[in-house]
Amino acid sequence: MDKSKKSEKILVVDDSADTLEIIQRNLKTKNYQVYTAKGVEEALNLLSKISIDLVITDIKMPKISGFDLIKHVRDNFNDIEIIVITGYPSINDAIKAVKDGAEEYLPKPFTDQELLTIVEKTLEKMHMRKLMKNELHKINEAPFGIVGNSHLMQQIFKAIEKSASTNATILIQGESGTGKELVARAIHYSSLRASAPFIPVNCGSIPENLLERELFGHVKGAFTGAIESRAGFFQTADGGTIFLDEISETSTSMQVKLLRVLQDKEICMIGSGKPQKVDVRILIATNKDLYKLVNTGLFREDLYYRINIINIHIPPLRDRENDILLLIRYFCSKFAKELKKKELKFSDNALQVLKNYSWPGNVRELENIIYSLMVMNENEIIDISNLPSLMKFSAVKGAKLNRTLCEVEEEHIRNILENVHNNKTKAATILGIDRKTLREKLKNYRSDSNN
Ligand SMILES: Nc1ncnc2c1ncn2[C@@H]1O[C@H](COP(=O)(O)OP(=O)(O)OP(=O)(O)O)[C@@H](O)[C@H]1O
Ligand SMILES: [Mg+2]
Repeated sequence: MDKSKKSEKILVVDDSADTLEIIQRNLKTKNYQVYTAKGVEEALNLLSKISIDLVITDIKMPKISGFDLIKHVRDNFNDIEIIVITGYPSINDAIKAVKDGAEEYLPKPFTDQELLTIVEKTLEKMHMRKLMKNELHKINEAPFGIVGNSHLMQQIFKAIEKSASTNATILIQGESGTGKELVARAIHYSSLRASAPFIPVNCGSIPENLLERELFGHVKGAFTGAIESRAGFFQTADGGTIFLDEISETSTSMQVKLLRVLQDKEICMIGSGKPQKVDVRILIATNKDLYKLVNTGLFREDLYYRINIINIHIPPLRDRENDILLLIRYFCSKFAKELKKKELKFSDNALQVLKNYSWPGNVRELENIIYSLMVMNENEIIDISNLPSLMKFSAVKGAKLNRTLCEVEEEHIRNILENVHNNKTKAATILGIDRKTLREKLKNYRSDSNN
């Protein structure tokens, strides 16, 4: 997200004017819209007028306590997040605040960075919940059954629309499981050819000698066992679309034949010397970098230039974070209907892990995981422990728990330095080490980062 365009509204409630000012200044550096209240009464007044996203409140305040504010917010504003800050840290206060509905608890004193980190984390959870709650209608409106609301997917929808209005050959690229076939189908079924067949051919799974027969057909007596003529996919697809998936897996001799079809719109059945015209639109897909294959001699350059005219590139799922949540809802609702089961619910932490995971198998992997959770899981709410173990590592990564002691030490030292405006004497005092040790540590960090 563009940090300069934050628009979340944060209300800070504390009886100390100094604390309010420090927090306000800190949050404003990140462009949040900040409102302050010196007590609960003032806070209630602001809450009735402004649609606040997050309340940061002290607990111990004269007149009305922060607990009452938490209760008021929970009873009246379900979507507002709450972070509790207090100068009287006691485990009981923390437990009560969280029980009453606060999302996070931060004991005073805290650094600017600690507050910003917790604010960002809380707001991210808020966005996640809103997405999971509100976007179901967008799923139902998914064009061609393609779910995705990200900017990147909007571009794909536009590309599909434009491609559908032409007869041009289109090269659809994307990692495995990103939805290349889904996009090819969408192009066909929204084109003028929609009522004619769409024939998908996986070039990687058909052996070389069979592929030619399957694509172009053969005449009677073309080879031993060819007791009668048989049409190939190109004839079957006449008037419609043929989808050549995994084009990179074809041999160079097959590539020559495909080039001829593309150029002359003609095929030659095996055993017949007579070319015949076909009216077939060709869509092509690959999960490989064809240009690299051209450079290594594995893909013909002439075919590459012939097919790489209009190109649709489907981005990997990890680059479409918000689509991940939408797809989770989509598959949950789809499989719940299919399996006649209740829809799954996810804890915030589990959602966070799913969102941070790198999804090497893209949408197909997500689809399979939701299916297996639906079939195998007995719990009503899916938590991190219910997710495949492969993903738990990314949970640890997200929570910054897989760092070495040295990395944690460096971050802590740098935080302190930032907070004391780089005054090394002050920083060393806070850290409980002498200046010389601090200087040496900093020197080591610098030399490490230069390596
Ligand atoms: N945006 C999406 N919305 C809904 N379902 C999707 C989406 N993208 C992919 N899928 C589903 O994910 C699965 C994989 O999609 P598809 O077969 O189109 O991917 P692919 O890129 O052709 O994969 P491969 O490279 O392995 O051939 C399918 O079940 C498809 O329906
Ligand atoms: Mg495919």
